Amino acid sequence: MPDLSVKYMGLDLKNPVIVSSSSLTQTTDGVKRCADGGASAVVLKSLFEEQISSETYKLEGAAQLYSHPEAVDYVRRMGMLLGPKEYLKLIENAKKYVDIPVIASLNCVSPKWWSDYAKEIEAAGADALELNIAVMPGTISGTSEKVEKLYINIVNGIRGAIGLPVAVKIGPYFTFLTGIAEGLSKAGADALVLFNRFYQLDIDVNSLSLKAGYRFSTPAEINVPLRWAAILYSRVGCDMSASTGVHDGDGAVKMLLAGVNAVQVCSTLFLNGIEQISRILERIEEWMKEQKFDGIDDFRGKLSQAENDRPEYYERLQYIKALTGIE
Ligand SMILES: Cc1cc2nc3c(=O)[nH]c(=O)nc-3n(C[C@H](O)[C@H](O)[C@H](O)COP(=O)(O)O)c2cc1C
Repeated sequence: MPDLSVKYMGLDLKNPVIVSSSSLTQTTDGVKRCADGGASAVVLKSLFEEQISSETYKLEGAAQLYSHPEAVDYVRRMGMLLGPKEYLKLIENAKKYVDIPVIASLNCVSPKWWSDYAKEIEAAGADALELNIAVMPGTISGTSEKVEKLYINIVNGIRGAIGLPVAVKIGPYFTFLTGIAEGLSKAGADALVLFNRFYQLDIDVNSLSLKAGYRFSTPAEINVPLRWAAILYSRVGCDMSASTGVHDGDGAVKMLLAGVNAVQVCSTLFLNGIEQISRILERIEEWMKEQKFDGIDDFRGKLSQAENDRPEYYERLQYIKALTGIE
């Protein structure tokens, strides 16, 4: 029987399939369903910065009456320290009911206050913390360096505050992705999650209004994380997990061949049910038997750029008929 166990940011996982942050993991029941379905770890639904701000809003309003900005600041800080209680409760309960690692998730858009709340998360018993950092640079003033510095500052702040393993989930839209990946690793990230798939904006042409785009990924979307995992494997100084486009066992195998330590799944579970976890695991096992691999490390990174004698293939961006026969 092949051994599916992996190590991911210091956690011992019984297999490489993690359920990623979403509404599937926002209740204790949901977490339990994922664990019963065979997942090796869960990432809880993210707690959003705005949720904490709104919880302290009323208190702030009262403090503002006295026109003492320091008082407002103090109250906000207290709010962050106390934090939304339900999220801490979710961590505590999830830990009681499942025996797989529970990874908490914070959505960060600024470095402010999170370090204190991260300590609360650690105290509640989470096994690790994933930072879902998503900065929307919607203005044309500013610089890319400034935005990237914000990412680094968030990781630095949290890394200094807690001893838990920290993963950083980023989007794919960086000019110099290898640079930010290395910067985050140096700032103390134990793992990178490649990639977040952001809320999609769409337009309704009949009502001339905005609407939400399709929520779920397609298997074709695996190509972006696949390329970057393959490029970063053995170069970036931390672990990696894949997110976006892993829908089946073959997708998981591809990402492991590219070099990730684990895969995170979300859309495929919404579309095919929690049972899809065991189908993915069965396919990985079957493939390992066919290929005669005993453990994941026997083939992890085998098709990464570093292990390939045609490294230029990973960097090609254009279709050129003369070279490939494809226009
Ligand atoms: C309904 C829904 C809710 C999500 N909520 C979060 C969230 O709170 N935090 C987060 O980091 N990612 C969130 N995601 C993104 C997923 O964790 C995942 O990164 C993304 O869907 C890409 O993976 P997939 O192709 O397996 O779906 C959400 C996705 C969906 C579909």
